[in-house]
Amino acid sequence: MDGGRDIKTKSQVKFRRFLSAVLKEPLSIGAIAPSSPYLAKYLIEGIRPGSRVIELGAGTGIVTQAILEAGVEPKDLIALEQNGDFADLLKERFPNIIVAKANALELKNHIGALDAPPDFVISGLPLMLFTIKQKTRLISQAFEVLGPSGFFHQFTYGGKCPVERSILDLIGLKATFLKLALLNLPPAFVYRLERR
Ligand SMILES: C[S@@+](CC[C@H](N)C(=O)[O-])C[C@H]1O[C@@H](n2cnc3c(N)ncnc32)[C@H](O)[C@@H]1O
Repeated sequence: MDGGRDIKTKSQVKFRRFLSAVLKEPLSIGAIAPSSPYLAKYLIEGIRPGSRVIELGAGTGIVTQAILEAGVEPKDLIALEQNGDFADLLKERFPNIIVAKANALELKNHIGALDAPPDFVISGLPLMLFTIKQKTRLISQAFEVLGPSGFFHQFTYGGKCPVERSILDLIGLKATFLKLALLNLPPAFVYRLERR
């Protein structure tokens, strides 16, 4: 078997599955292509062996793979994905992590499998398409479950943090711009939210 061709074929299959999901449900996917490995690397900044992580909107698993490659134990990673095709693909690709076909707005109901509070919530959710009410609910839950020095990482295609100041103030958070991933379609900005 030609290993190079095999890898190319697998990534083509993932890209096709992503594209077909975008065509079926453009507004719930909120992207035209999966994240690039560069964006994935910026999103997982600070994750190291021993970290416990919840990933929201895991899609085809680009960021999931980067999280595991950073040394996170499969038992310490929970991926939530509401699209059924993507959730099935994630289960196939990563049989040892916990994948739930679930709405990230219910994230509190899905962290029971971790043996301690998570250190990171890594979000690929299309937050620009969420209402203020949905964002408030999501971010409040994330900081209810995160450990005291936990981080929430989010990317956005817009040039400003997709979580409004009113939400940050309500929950007592600050947002910091981490990185711009130019090598991504389209380029993406990565933000970190943490307690003040
Ligand atoms: C922009 S794509 C990112 C996919 C992947 N993380 C990546 O970086 O390539 C957004 C993903 O979030 C998922 N999603 C959107 N709304 C969601 C929700 N409320 N709960 C869980 N997943 C959601 C979509 O199905 C899609 O897979």
